[in-house]
Amino acid sequence: MHPKDFVIAPSILSANFAKLGEEVANVIASGADWIHFDVMDNHYVPNLTIGPLVCEAIRPCTTVPIDVHLMVKPVDRIIPDFAEAGANIITFHPEATEHVDRSLSLIRDSGCQGGLVFNPATPLEFMDHVMDKLDIVLLMSVNPGFGGQRFIPGTLAKARLARAKLDAYEKASGRRIRLEIDGGVNPANIAEIARAGVDAFVAGSAIFGAGKDSDPQRYNTVIGALRNELAKV
Ligand code: DX5
Ligand code: ZN
Repeated sequence: MHPKDFVIAPSILSANFAKLGEEVANVIASGADWIHFDVMDNHYVPNLTIGPLVCEAIRPCTTVPIDVHLMVKPVDRIIPDFAEAGANIITFHPEATEHVDRSLSLIRDSGCQGGLVFNPATPLEFMDHVMDKLDIVLLMSVNPGFGGQRFIPGTLAKARLARAKLDAYEKASGRRIRLEIDGGVNPANIAEIARAGVDAFVAGSAIFGAGKDSDPQRYNTVIGALRNELAKV
């Protein structure tokens, strides 16, 4: 795959929230393709983060897609709010909604691209009967809820299985579905993950925790390192 077809999506979960607009502008200027936006409700996952108001607040900081990862239960009530707040992509966990097909339709009807998120133990079969409603599949390579966790190695085999399903669908339909990964991604493992068929990479602590605060080039350096690794694939 051409290196430019790979997407790098910094997760603002690890950004400095006291200067979020600046952080978003800096990672975009340093070459980020999307902004990954983690929404947690202290119910579906044991942590609490940000909602549509914050999405709306960062929307003017950039024209790149905002990739909203919903870790909330239920999901339907909040989907239109994120669409109105400027989200471009909305993904949710199939266990967090009573009606997966309906929730996916709601995302498309709201004008966004939609996708399913698979926890480490969630079977990929959840995608089988809704492929036509998916724009993206997101594999969790950690258990959701916190940044800074270690990549679970078994996710690589799961990524290969997911890639095979998405390739078979593309062959039959002509439509390509992206395969994104989230959790523990860094310059040391991104190439191996790409070789397993992943084409969009969320990285939180690896990007926002890189280098010294006093170094204005630190995001540029780490995103450059991620891209260099992808260029080897
Ligand atoms: C975890 C979140 C991730 C998180 C990734 O539940 O969905 O997006 O920010 O953080 P790192 O890259 O530090 O594992
Ligand atoms: Zn996420």
